Amino acid sequence: MKKILVVDDAELNRELLHDILKDDYITEMAADGEEALEKLREYQHEISALLLDLRMPKMDGFAVIEEMQKNGWIQRIPILIISSEYAIEIENRCFQLGVSDFIHKPFESSLVRNRVKNAIKLFTYKNQLEQKVEEQAATLEKQYQIIQLQAEKLREAKPFNLLMMEFSAAILEVETKLKVLNAEFSQEYNRNPFESIKSRLKSPESIYEKLERKGFPVTLKSIRDNLTDVAGVRVICSFPDDIYRLAELFSKQDDILVIKRKDYIKNPKSNGYRSLHLILDVPIFLSHGKKYMKVEIQFRTIAMDFWASLEHKLKYKKVVEDTDEIVRRLKECADSIEKLDHQMQEIRNKIDLSKD
Ligand code: GTP
Ligand code: MG
Repeated sequence: MKKILVVDDAELNRELLHDILKDDYITEMAADGEEALEKLREYQHEISALLLDLRMPKMDGFAVIEEMQKNGWIQRIPILIISSEYAIEIENRCFQLGVSDFIHKPFESSLVRNRVKNAIKLFTYKNQLEQKVEEQAATLEKQYQIIQLQAEKLREAKPFNLLMMEFSAAILEVETKLKVLNAEFSQEYNRNPFESIKSRLKSPESIYEKLERKGFPVTLKSIRDNLTDVAGVRVICSFPDDIYRLAELFSKQDDILVIKRKDYIKNPKSNGYRSLHLILDVPIFLSHGKKYMKVEIQFRTIAMDFWASLEHKLKYKKVVEDTDEIVRRLKECADSIEKLDHQMQEIRNKIDLSKD
């Protein structure tokens, strides 16, 4: 049976509460705040709830709560205040101090039992959750250390660095192709099909983490076979139409193979994410011959990129307050951005059609 500490200077109250609770709990009694603290010190790990009177000689209920806060007991033990009056100010103050509930006099047996039961249930649940979170944090920390260690090993391995050099070469090839298209468009049509390009090589940490997460072996062959985003190029365009035109021109180049095309502009993700992704096989030319490397290109408008970088921040924060609210507002922004992109496109089309 769980143990409950009843603290009240009136013996009658202690007896009444003992009678109500004795079938379900072991009750410990204290007649004032000082005695309560003694018992708490003695039984702090066994006590499941504290029934506490506020007005008592020597040390009152508020002083007990304060002491419980100092010792961190308040996080673990629910406090229910025994009170004879309904004073809103006092009750609010108690709630602010972290009190769980009130038991009003005269005691109604079933109400007392239910309130105590609920408070204990909630706290047990809360404590279990907190323990789980702590355990998970410890596991994550351990995983993080393993990742760091493995990434260090990868960094030092020559064949790994050779592979990374090959992926870098593929990025260079793609960048050159894009720049050539840009130069041609500026000459021919007096406009640029994209605003900017951002490229990145996946870090050894991310490579190791992703292979582990997906259950693939950590070998060079596995990196080649299973990861499509070691080489990443992001192309930021002004208008949605430019994205499709550019992607089309690019895909048609006869030395490039399109392995996969994911159109998150026509079919946005549920969070609002929009971009056009191409996974390509790109040839690189080394001293011993030609080799195909995988490259992931993401095409986005400036507005989509603005959105994605903000949304990305949400994923990498461990704790974010009001996450649901942020997710909802991000989705709203994504919808507005879609409209905005569309309107800007229409305006540009109109301008293009008018005579010089
Ligand atoms: P990853 O394992 O994350 O690469 O996902 P995937 O293999 O299912 O491919 P997907 O096309 O969904 O995502 C590829 C990349 O697009 C990601 O690594 C991100 O850079 C970007 N991306 C995809 N979804 C989102 C998203 O919801 N938000 C943001 N900010 N970026 C995203
Ligand atoms: Mg990725």
